[in-house]
Amino acid sequence: MKSNQSNIKKAKKYLDKNQCIAVPTETVYGLAGNAYSNTSVKKIFSLKKRPINNPLIVHYYNINNLKADCHINNNFVRLYNKFSPGPITFILKLKKYSKISKLVTNKQKSLAVRFPKHFLFRKLLKNLNYPLAAPSANISSRLSSVQASDVKEEFGSKIKYILNGGRCKIGIESTIVNLLNKPAILRLGGIDVKKIEKVLKKNISIKIRSKKKISPGQFSLHYSPGIPLRLNAKKIKDNEAYLLIKKIKKNKPNYYFLTKKGSLKEAAKNLYSTLRKIKNSKYKSIAVEKIPNKGLGKTINDRLKRASKF
Ligand code: TXA
Ligand code: MG
Repeated sequence: MKSNQSNIKKAKKYLDKNQCIAVPTETVYGLAGNAYSNTSVKKIFSLKKRPINNPLIVHYYNINNLKADCHINNNFVRLYNKFSPGPITFILKLKKYSKISKLVTNKQKSLAVRFPKHFLFRKLLKNLNYPLAAPSANISSRLSSVQASDVKEEFGSKIKYILNGGRCKIGIESTIVNLLNKPAILRLGGIDVKKIEKVLKKNISIKIRSKKKISPGQFSLHYSPGIPLRLNAKKIKDNEAYLLIKKIKKNKPNYYFLTKKGSLKEAAKNLYSTLRKIKNSKYKSIAVEKIPNKGLGKTINDRLKRASKF
């Protein structure tokens, strides 16, 4: 992991020329481009093969930079002070004269914003005079990338530059909170909903499968390892990989463990990389042991459930 100024300079050079690059965040790698530039944003959608009606998250260095583009409200300020920079994304109202490319939001009047924590990404943002639109760095509906080599596997030579920031510490996407009206969770993620409720001092509704599809991350097929995956498996079939939450003594070559001792935080961090490992080992399918449905276990189960829709 190199953090020297010349890497940041190189990254900036590509971005200033409206090119897309991959950037490390604490959650997953992002495919970044200038959020004010139609050219850059178009490239993001085409590289990812992403439907144009699925809006992007825009990443800022801090709240001061955001003020030109979005209206802020009390709930936002409270959550921002507690969790940003960190794995939380806010849906806010766009300002009328914001410079955000209309392609980012598919002309919607709301914007998803995030303040990433990874020190390299922050250094980069500090050096730019525009925010970065960055969806997860994977082909649409496939597994997200949690290290530079994953990004390479997804895009090959189509991406000209990857700012290598090592392995993502959280390993699973940010929690998305809609703050347009009454707060609601649109995607489970790296921050437990209970912690958000504590700050806002109220229960928050979870709308991760809304019929209106406000957040297309709610589309059911997502995070697919490319082979069938089944949940709550007690036994496995021939040619199947077995994904287990905790290391057990009775190890076999087709057993994959998410953690040593069962920590859900560790399991979330290892989820995508383990699924990618299995996918690259030519198994026909994946059986997943039951994962405790509490804290980050809820986020893990959400991703596995979507991955099982293959
Ligand atoms: O952790 C993360 O959030 C990562 C890193 C790179 O920051 N990014 C990420 O982006 O997961 P992406 O594009 O893979 O997922 C963004 C989700 C999508 O489900 C999208 O539909 C939703 O955010 N979204 C974006 N703009 C929205 C908006 N205005 N209203 C509701 N949902 C929105
Ligand atoms: Mg994604």
